[in-house]
Amino acid sequence: MREAAVIGVGMTKFGELWTKSLRDIFVEAGLKAIDDAGVDHIDAMYVGSMTPGLFVGQEHIGALMADYLGVAPIPAVRIESACASGGFAFRQAFLDVASGMNDIVLAGGVEKMTDGADVTYALSTAADQEYECYQGITFPGLYAMIANVYFERYGATRKHLAMVAVKNHKNGALNPNAQFQSEITIDDVLNATMVADPITVMDSSPVSDGGACVIVTTVDIAKKLNKPIIKVIGSGAGTDTIALHQRDDILSLNAVRIAGERAYKMAGIKPSDVNFAEVHDCFTIAELCIIEELGFAPRGKAAELIEKGETTLTGKIPINTSGGLKSKGHPVGATGIAQIVEVVEQLRGNAGKRQVKNAKIGLTQNMGGSGASSTVHIFKLD
Ligand code: COA
Repeated sequence: MREAAVIGVGMTKFGELWTKSLRDIFVEAGLKAIDDAGVDHIDAMYVGSMTPGLFVGQEHIGALMADYLGVAPIPAVRIESACASGGFAFRQAFLDVASGMNDIVLAGGVEKMTDGADVTYALSTAADQEYECYQGITFPGLYAMIANVYFERYGATRKHLAMVAVKNHKNGALNPNAQFQSEITIDDVLNATMVADPITVMDSSPVSDGGACVIVTTVDIAKKLNKPIIKVIGSGAGTDTIALHQRDDILSLNAVRIAGERAYKMAGIKPSDVNFAEVHDCFTIAELCIIEELGFAPRGKAAELIEKGETTLTGKIPINTSGGLKSKGHPVGATGIAQIVEVVEQLRGNAGKRQVKNAKIGLTQNMGGSGASSTVHIFKLD
């Protein structure tokens, strides 16, 4: 395999982008990434998007985005794995470059969720229709079940979930691209409208529009272009049962654990070598479970790690420096790529007030549904 590096990143602001269409959003992010990379062409493109057909009535977006980005006739295709579509699009671009198939590849993600679609229905198509959705379960409900079992088994409380939201909003307040750039308090979370007990509005990622793109190439080309070398040193992916009740243990996110193990093995590192991570906090409870699956805390101990402040910007393992899905926003197909944008900005030392000191190795974890699919990528500043 050839060594690969990310040489360009670009994203739109996340939020309610009333004046921009799906294609406007993608093209804005794509042009920023191409400009940042300083390349005069791309060889192929992968577009992560969960369900543009249900959100805005548009399918066939590989070709559409190639056309509007002005890069047709290159091969371009949409990659879908629910909320992990962006992470899987990146993995595809990485494999293209690593295998020698293509030299310069764009991995992007885009979603436009606020144009009036039935968002809860559209999102729920990523769960098991026959065994979950027909019974009236939605994603807040599924994660609420995980939270209740977590509380019972490990003695954590709603306050621990609230600490995740408070920390992520604090980071998001320092991110000009975040949907919510405001700090919140524990009481704001505890007193927010209940969605599915114990998950409140403030435990939830919002409904968002947004796009993000990155350019992947070989380390040799990156050197010739005189770019900071952010190497992709690990890539892992995994799947699990789509329905939560079919798992041996509903607190085990096997797809995340397996993706993490594979990425660590490829990178030849341990969890303790990672300096910071962007993880898929679609609901606050998810951040706790993922921290444990990735080996940043022993099982049942993530709440303790958070209580000690170890996941803040100055802690042992800063988590979601961008504000995470909770505060930065969660335009589902774009999220996995936006996580990579944040890691690259951190490794380049360009993260401004949310910069992690001495950041050398960063990890991204992106997840579909209630954990039925996941990618993990590890990046190193050369
Ligand atoms: N965090 C913080 N504030 C939020 C928010 C969130 N997640 N969601 C909405 N708000 C704010 C809005 O900005 C708005 O504020 P304003 O009155 O100052 O403008 C207010 O709350 C009401 O917004 P509204 O759009 O009416 O909220 P809602 O009740 O329709 O939706 C949720 C709230 C939590 C149900 C919705 O955001 C949601 O479904 N989130 C989960 C998305 C999801 O499942 N993603 C996939 C994960 S697997």
